[in-house]
Amino acid sequence: MKLWGGRFGKETDRLMEAFNASIGFDHRLWAADIRGSIAYARALARAGLISPDERERLVQGLEAVAQEFAAGEFVFLPTDEDIHTAVERRLREHVGPVADKLHTGRSRNDQVATDLRLYLMDEIPPLRQHLTDLQEAILTQAERHLDIIMPGYTHLQHAQPVRFSHWLMSFFWAFHRDRERLDELERRVAVLPLGSGALAGHSLGIDRAFLATELNFPSICENSIDGVSDRDFVAEFLFWAALLQVHLSRLAEDLILWSSAEFGFVVIDEAYATGSSLMPQKRNPDSLELLRGKAGRLVGHLTGMLTTLKGLPTGYNKDLQEDKEPLFDAVDTLNLALPVAAGVVRTLQVNPERMEAALDDGMLATDLADYLVERGVPFRQSHHLVGQVVRRAEALGLPLRALPLEEFQAISPLFGPDLYQVFDPHRSVERRASQGGTAREAVRAQIARARSILAGR
Ligand code: ARG
Repeated sequence: MKLWGGRFGKETDRLMEAFNASIGFDHRLWAADIRGSIAYARALARAGLISPDERERLVQGLEAVAQEFAAGEFVFLPTDEDIHTAVERRLREHVGPVADKLHTGRSRNDQVATDLRLYLMDEIPPLRQHLTDLQEAILTQAERHLDIIMPGYTHLQHAQPVRFSHWLMSFFWAFHRDRERLDELERRVAVLPLGSGALAGHSLGIDRAFLATELNFPSICENSIDGVSDRDFVAEFLFWAALLQVHLSRLAEDLILWSSAEFGFVVIDEAYATGSSLMPQKRNPDSLELLRGKAGRLVGHLTGMLTTLKGLPTGYNKDLQEDKEPLFDAVDTLNLALPVAAGVVRTLQVNPERMEAALDDGMLATDLADYLVERGVPFRQSHHLVGQVVRRAEALGLPLRALPLEEFQAISPLFGPDLYQVFDPHRSVERRASQGGTAREAVRAQIARARSILAGR
């Protein structure tokens, strides 16, 4: 029997049944749905709508249904349209007609919104832990490789030397913002819609504050129409997931490039690489390529959800059933992507010789401009003068450090023999000692702040 069959005189079309059903994916909400219903049965008893005995029969029946799900023994019927229908149908099989009282004052509209929030409230803490584990892996590698210097890039061209640790830590802070965003959005997930009814609340004296306490919701939605139609928490979570995956993708891209034969800066551990079915020598960074590839998928989920929400008329609309699959998939994707990323970072081998060998004098041209600034030349002019030095060296086919002093002095008389000290990448990174810079102490202080953030969790 359908939950809504009373006014219908005709069978639903077979394809329409299939089209309408969400049980194929919302069965994942069984635990949340049963918890919500147990709290709801208690609230009904408190409001005098059912007797304490009826409450006990409902609660025990719901617990029995939960047992069946937990044991993998729940048998779905073709008539189970969605998880709410399935649970209630099975409850009636356990406890008889008293099951018909459970839905008093409730709609599947406030029920499904509550279930989805409960589900996400459960999923957030493990995701947060995965994020912390990744940050921990980054931090440990940054501490280990503090003295390795490598080319820093802009436009993927040689820019200035940086510490490998400094590059790695740049991702720590991106993931730190992801962590902050998760903490903030979690508050907006944990708002109770139950008691909103179909859209207009209920008239039966059900205590929403009691429901909130029972279900660990710190707050209650203020408007029943908003309660049943708000999916901002889904969109916000999907944005969080998409941006986090974009961060993972950018980290992955750097490592894919740097693990190529041409760079050889890093080696991806065999545990996170795969081979080719044709070329025996291959060792491909598939873990990283998937971390990059999954970003497209999660951005797609966000775009899809926002498109579904845009233009919906007021209240609940069945379009909202489309909220679940992207949400579940984003959770599943990150539950794999985050630990894999942490594993790749944790096991990453670094090749300092290749990194140092890739440094060149051109990357110290900015230091050369600073040299003139220290001798009173305005930066715009020193930049121009050093540009001429670079041009001259290129014309002579020499690295900057091999350019004779007279050539330098022909461009600016302020160049002295001490200019050659500039051609030391270690000195260059050490000179950038301000907060957030590349000097050893600055990076150590950065790492220490990151450590204390992680320790405070
Ligand atoms: N399966 C539905 C969903 O996921 C449950 C709510 C149905 N509400 C309704 N008015 N038909 O959104």
